[in-house]
This record gives sequence, C-alpha cells and structure tokens, in this order.
Amino acid sequence: MLRRPRRNRKSEVIRELVVETRLSKSDLIFPLFMVQGTNIKQEISSMPGIYRFSTDKLMDEISECVDLGIKTFCLFPAFDEKYKDKYATISYDPDNFYLKTIARIKKEIPQACIMTDVAMDPYSSDGHDGIVENGEILNDETLEVLGKMSLAQAKAGADILGPSDMMDGRVEHIREMLDDEGFTKVSIMSYTAKYASAFYGPFRDALDSAPKSGDKKTYQMNPANVREALIEAELDEMEGADILMVKPALSYLDIISELSQTSNLPISAYNVSGEYAMIKAAHQKGWVDGEKAMLEVLLSIRRAGAKIILTYFAKEYAKLNQ
Ligand code: PBG
Repeated sequence: MLRRPRRNRKSEVIRELVVETRLSKSDLIFPLFMVQGTNIKQEISSMPGIYRFSTDKLMDEISECVDLGIKTFCLFPAFDEKYKDKYATISYDPDNFYLKTIARIKKEIPQACIMTDVAMDPYSSDGHDGIVENGEILNDETLEVLGKMSLAQAKAGADILGPSDMMDGRVEHIREMLDDEGFTKVSIMSYTAKYASAFYGPFRDALDSAPKSGDKKTYQMNPANVREALIEAELDEMEGADILMVKPALSYLDIISELSQTSNLPISAYNVSGEYAMIKAAHQKGWVDGEKAMLEVLLSIRRAGAKIILTYFAKEYAKLNQ
C-alpha cells in the first residue's frame, strides 16, 4: 500500500497539523432572552442552561461572557401580552425596556457588541412577524413598522440589526431609513434564508411569541428549496446587507455551503433553539455525550462554510476553551 491515510491520524500532534477547520470563540454570537423587571433569572424549561434575564441580571451575564471571550450578543425581548398590539407599536417606543437596556449595555459595557432582532412577533398581538389582515401577512405595510423599529434600535446604540421576518425588500428599506438618519455605520445581518422550521419551538416558548393562528409559511422558506435561497441572497446583497444568515443550521448545512460558495459576503448560521434542546435532552437522558455533540455540531456548521455561528452553546463553549 503506497497510500495510507491513517498516517495523518496517528497522533494528536499530526491530527492538529492537518486539521482543516477550526472554531474560535470570536466566531460565536450568544443569543440572550430578556424580560422586564428586576432580579429575574428564569430558566426556560425546554432550554436547560438558558434563561430569561431582567436588565440587571443581563448586565451581569454579559460582563461574565465578555470576560470569557464572547463579545457579541443577540438580544430578544419577551414582552407582556398587555403591551402587544396589531402594529407592534411598543417596538419603537424609546421607553420600552428592550431599547433602554440596549442603551445601558452600550454605556456600561462598551466592549460588548450588540445585535438586535428586527421583526414584529414579540410585540404583535397576532404573534406573526408582519401585520395580519384577514388572515394575510401584509408585506409593504410591515416594512414601515420594521423601519421605525430599526431606527429606534440604532438610536439605542445597536451595532448590528438582524431583520428576521423574511418580508420582501426589508433590507433596502431599513438601510435607507438608517442612512437617511445618519446611521451609516450600523450593520445589517440579514436572516437571508430562514426556513419555516419545527426547530423554533423552544424559542417561541421562551418569548411566548407563537403565532395565534396559521403558520409562517407565506414568509419563511420551504425546507425543500435551495435555489430560492440563492435568490434571497442575491436580493439581500443588492439591498445592502453586510452579512447573510442561514437558519436553522443543522438541517441546512447544504444551504450554508451553497451560499458560502456563491456570495462574497460573510455567512452566518443560526444554531436554533430546537437544535440546542435536542442535544440537552439527549444528554440528560444519558443517550449522547452533550459536550462532544456540541463541539461536533458547531464544527460541522463552521466546516459547511459559516464564519459566524449564533448559538445557545456560546457560553458553554467559551468556558471549555478558556
Ligand atoms: C422571530 C425569530 C424566531 C427565531 C429568531 N427570531 C422564531 C420564529 O421565526 O418563529 C428563532 C430562534 C430559535 O429558534 O432559536 N422573528
């Protein structure tokens, strides 16, 4: 035998020499859930180790993560039902706790990079990402709300906006609104290929944001499609997105790979709540080694072509790699 591939696996040192993919703490974004109030740190039952934080506790969590080497955080608010309405009006009220918390983080922990979520669902009495009229999700009317929400988040000090609603034309609309008001430095990480997925279940528990009727299939993509993701990517690039995201990650590694080959923009992937919950549940049952599964999963997303990974494992990973 002239060729023996096992020679390149014979020791730890050789394996490290020939390794093709590396993961680093600086590739990770940690999504965090927020609630109004003080002294609250509530575990989400379907996401062991992940909490809803009130502002004071969130500040502690962010400081701790920054010290561990996690620098970017994607913040999601859980609003009480009484604040929700058809038009998500509270989302751009400068006095809402989400916007006030962003401003406080940027002031007190300036080294933290803050990404926001731009979509109506946590603020909407219908639980949808857009305005609902007669059972239909309106596109262009929703853009107006997204524009106001984006501007309010930029004013609060957000570094990166993450439009996650899958409305047509949102990146262009948001970019224009931001630039007109002088926020040319605020980045847009577009949820470019976001699929109508069963893996968002625990997230909707965390935010209490499940749609009150119907599903999200008229705006989120069909899991069967890959060519459509290329159209979304082309549009987001033209409209001024800085980073393109694929979501979920694990059932969509081919989409990540495809976009990383066809676009020159950085690609990110969202390792979503259901993907996290599955590993945690199997670990708790003693059916898989959760830590090893986490490392393998994160590496697979990186290998597929994502430079950036949004993951609930971020803090755990950072603790393991101090
Ligand atoms: C909503 C939004 C969702 C997630 C991020 N932003 C859920 C949805 O579209 O219903 C899911 C994240 C996760 O499951 O971890 N705009």
